[in-house]
Amino acid sequence: MTASSVLLGVNIDHVAFIKKSRETSYPDLIQAVKLCEKSGADSITIHLREDRRHIQDGDAITIRQYCKKLNFEMANTDEMIAFALKLKPNFCCFVPENRDEKTTEGGLALNEMTTMQEKLFKKNIEKLQDAGIEVSLFIDPNLESVKKSKELRATSVELHTGPYAISYELNNYQSELRKLVDAANLANDLSLKVNAGHGLNYKNLQQILKLPYLNELNIGHAIIAESVFIGLDDAIKKIKRIIDNSG
Ligand code: PXP
Repeated sequence: MTASSVLLGVNIDHVAFIKKSRETSYPDLIQAVKLCEKSGADSITIHLREDRRHIQDGDAITIRQYCKKLNFEMANTDEMIAFALKLKPNFCCFVPENRDEKTTEGGLALNEMTTMQEKLFKKNIEKLQDAGIEVSLFIDPNLESVKKSKELRATSVELHTGPYAISYELNNYQSELRKLVDAANLANDLSLKVNAGHGLNYKNLQQILKLPYLNELNIGHAIIAESVFIGLDDAIKKIKRIIDNSG
């Protein structure tokens, strides 16, 4: 896989967060989906959290109708499995969820599961796959988690790049990058697709594009943050036109 063939999933949770923060009808999430796709997003990612802090159930259903490829991030709960089976996204990515976290903080603790939890998780993965949904597991880049993802019969892993992103800021990222490279190599050896995401931005992305066998990157916060500056100029001019043309 060459860097130029790496797919981009755009996470629009932060657009939904602006809408939810004021309970307004804007920003229109469908407009966001269409713009992301028109601008080159290969898929749209949303995370329906247990606390519904950004994406709402209705948003997810509408987005599903309009977007070409949907990646649905969710916790491994009965509620979310039932919702995903109704929603029928193209991909489901299981993520751990902790109510007090600002954003997803770590990969799934796959190696801390009891035999019973593992059995139930495998069953849930199978239910989604039987419904034609491709299943990915969001994991820390360590070899045990990659092996366990294979045992659970996931199709893909999404390697957590958050620690790499933090270490990049500290100018000391080589060992975090090495973990990602090793995890990507093993995932490919085990015929798992390699995705990656979390904390990626305009500066730290270049090194990540060197990961072997990279299939897809999921990026949200940095894109929405950058769009403030790329779009603020036009947004102010648009409101000035209304003010200047009144009366
Ligand atoms: N991948 C997963 C599994 C995530 O939970 C998130 C954050 O919602 C992302 C990717 C995107 O991270 P960021 O918003 O930092 O780009």
